[in-house]
Amino acid sequence: MKKIIVSPSLLSADFLNLKKEISTVEAAGAEWLHFDVMDGHFVPNISFGFPVLVDVADAHHMVNDVHIMIENPSKYAEKFLQSGADILTFHLEACDDDDDVRHLISLIHSYGKKVGISIKPKTDVKELLPYLADIDLVLIMSVEPGFGGQSFIPTALDKIRFLRKYIDDHHLSALIEVDGGINDETGRECIDAGVDVLVAGSYLFGHDDICGRIKKLRG
Ligand code: DX5
Ligand code: ZN
Repeated sequence: MKKIIVSPSLLSADFLNLKKEISTVEAAGAEWLHFDVMDGHFVPNISFGFPVLVDVADAHHMVNDVHIMIENPSKYAEKFLQSGADILTFHLEACDDDDDVRHLISLIHSYGKKVGISIKPKTDVKELLPYLADIDLVLIMSVEPGFGGQSFIPTALDKIRFLRKYIDDHHLSALIEVDGGINDETGRECIDAGVDVLVAGSYLFGHDDICGRIKKLRG
């Protein structure tokens, strides 16, 4: 039975008690911590950046799963790597061209870190294919990026099924991560479709049974 990785999204945490929130999800068995960076340009929201990541990255032993929803990722990628990102996931839609994507992949790998590429709901999953053999993770957005607490968009399941088959048929190693509107029901559908990593924000933070909820997510 495949072990599903749970990556709680900090965007939904209580920012007045971040250390406690992080310790709670770590104690509850989360393997990764999802850090949503938003610049107010690529997405219509602004979240947090380098100063918070520097402190958060060292405050736990989970994997720092950094999701940058920003324009011009090449300009800032190195700073995220230096600030503690273990996985740095950028948006394909935010890259200028193929060279830009290739530059980011080699830069992130030059730091010994993992590369993720994310696509929005309206982006064709086939646009990921040229990079799939060279990256460590694909992040399928199951909501329009920018906010926690939105409803799951079911077309994400088709993309997950397509990627699961493609990755297995081509003996690739990229993990499939899904992000947005994930709860025990949508999470189960994504697991059945072949996902490896579940990002969950509002389903976990703000509830007093996080341990039970993480168990339910794993199914
Ligand atoms: C949305 C973020 C997601 C979001 C998930 O742009 O990328 O990680 O915080 O939050 P929920 O799980 O509440 O949809
Ligand atoms: Zn995210």
